[in-house]
Amino acid sequence: MPSASLISVASWLPEQRLTNADLEKLVDTSDEWIRSRTGIAERRIAAPGDATSDLAARAGAIAIERAGVQPADIDLLIVATSTPDMVLPSTACLAQAKMGLTCPAFDLNAACTGFIYAIEMATAVIEAGRARTVMVIGADVLSSIVDYSDRSTCILFGDGAGAVILQASDEPGVLSVHLGADGSGADLLYVPAGGSAAPATCERISAGETYMRMNGNEVFKFAVRAIPQVTNEALADSGLTLADVDWLVPHQANQRITDTVAQRLGMPSERVVCRIEDTGNTSSASIPIALDSLYREGHLRPGHILALVGFGAGLTYGAAIIRWTRED
Ligand code: COA
Repeated sequence: MPSASLISVASWLPEQRLTNADLEKLVDTSDEWIRSRTGIAERRIAAPGDATSDLAARAGAIAIERAGVQPADIDLLIVATSTPDMVLPSTACLAQAKMGLTCPAFDLNAACTGFIYAIEMATAVIEAGRARTVMVIGADVLSSIVDYSDRSTCILFGDGAGAVILQASDEPGVLSVHLGADGSGADLLYVPAGGSAAPATCERISAGETYMRMNGNEVFKFAVRAIPQVTNEALADSGLTLADVDWLVPHQANQRITDTVAQRLGMPSERVVCRIEDTGNTSSASIPIALDSLYREGHLRPGHILALVGFGAGLTYGAAIIRWTRED
């Protein structure tokens, strides 16, 4: 059975920055409060007219170039997003055309855990011999569903995209993936209107129902419980322990969540990837963006063991244990 190896990683962030000082002008908050409670200093905001598929296609194009493959070599494209360009067609189809791909393409929505879910799907398809080369993109334009008059959510989120390419290989790459979902927590983080349950109407839009609603304290508690648990489960599946992990790459949601998780796992802080300060929470893009920064800074070596871990609305959670095989 072939294994699935990550042969490239890339990311793309919009130019425009939304700083804590900018938010001080919009809501009753302060730079000091945001930094101390979240670790965030600024986020990126997509340019007017730029949709999720644009960010996705830009990250994907860099991933193709770094992988040294041709667009025609990609057998399948999965775009993890919860902010699709539109209800239909899928963002994956729109990004596919923008990248000049010809392969099947579909969206996957597991909120901020979407990238980990998509890694599992890509790995399964490759291991089954149904595809050789699969592109996974995590992309979100969260600014399109954020209420910039709600100080408890608008401080957290930003826009961005990250991409990886997985390819069949004799060398073990993706060692294990463990996923979970608990739909009984669906009301902790959701967008009330705009779907089939409550289609967007003038009244619902005016009432702010097409914006995200969140119970921050409960999501925080869920995250610090679920992440250590799913990380340990995925490690057990791969036959490794935390001592084998060179880099823990958690979903970047709140620095205090990351710190608590690292402490509960007993993971030294120098092996925990923290990139939230300049990006905020970019949902399904956050893990590949953090991974790409690790790669570009030259920290990844062949044989390094990565634990990628996510959590988010759904509630969903998941961890992927990966051996990095790229030489540069
Ligand atoms: N600026 C200033 N004060 C704020 C504020 C802001 N932006 N947001 C909330 N506050 C206030 C609250 O109103 C509250 O005031 P009160 O004590 O007078 O009632 C106080 O700060 C504490 O609020 P609390 O909600 O307990 O703060 P917190 O330390 O839990 O931080 C979050 C709030 C949202 C930052 C935090 O709960 C969090 O990050 N949760 C996880 C969310 C998440 O990751 N979501 C995405 C999942 S993928």
